[in-house]
Amino acid sequence: MEELVRIKNMYKIYNPGEDEVRALDGVDITIHEGEYVAIIGQSGSGKSTLMNMLGCLDVPTSGSYYLHNQDVSQMKDNDLAQIRNKEIGFIFQGFNLIANLDAIGNVELPLIYRGISKGARQKIAKQALSIVGLEKRMKHKPSEMSGGQQQRVAVARAIAAKPPVILADEPTGNLDTKTTKEIMEILRELHRAGRTVIVITHDDEIAEQAARVIKLKDGKIVADYMNQQGEE
Ligand SMILES: Nc1ncnc2c1ncn2[C@@H]1O[C@H](COP(=O)(O)OP(=O)(O)O)[C@@H](O)[C@H]1O
Ligand SMILES: [Mg+2]
Repeated sequence: MEELVRIKNMYKIYNPGEDEVRALDGVDITIHEGEYVAIIGQSGSGKSTLMNMLGCLDVPTSGSYYLHNQDVSQMKDNDLAQIRNKEIGFIFQGFNLIANLDAIGNVELPLIYRGISKGARQKIAKQALSIVGLEKRMKHKPSEMSGGQQQRVAVARAIAAKPPVILADEPTGNLDTKTTKEIMEILRELHRAGRTVIVITHDDEIAEQAARVIKLKDGKIVADYMNQQGEE
């Protein structure tokens, strides 16, 4: 399988000097196409910092990051924005939907930035919404949907353009147990369908579902193992 993520000797240091925080302290990670990886660790271990790096939302203090064989570690904001749009589908804890757009409008949004025509956009967005079981809610605004439905819209938005990587940061952090199961099942299905899924979580049950678990502590990787019960 093709290599998607190659991070070498990555550091992210906040407040360099006396009060410095090594949020990432020499991290090496390689992730191949089609993997299902959970990144775990306690609060403050560096998960969100790593998510920001993986998602090209920020650049490291030092070290290299090749995403799909492109060095993105020194890129400027404009180029990073393009890489994000092309390579990564984001799912956030707080859904991050646009309040005054309906479900289909939200899913279409990243497709607009890709320059896809209106007709094609609507078709792609409808397909994505039916994958997450929301074909009957296309015209609903976020305020007219439950948390679980909103997160499913966010999943549809993340997968619509078929980005190489789906990156989820605590995707079930705001959901109840039942809805958590539904969202995790959708992620599992996406993985089965060949997508690369990276989930950041502090929830052990979610981590158990992933095929591979990477554990962070104090900005360092302290474990990286294949899960027996997880997906192949
Ligand atoms: N913008 C920032 N400025 C200074 N310190 C930060 C900043 N962001 C995160 N940190 C620190 O970096 C460490 C890792 O934080 P974070 O990546 O948010 O961890 P996690 O997501 O695992 O809780 C923590 O000690 C945190 O306080
Ligand atoms: Mg965090």
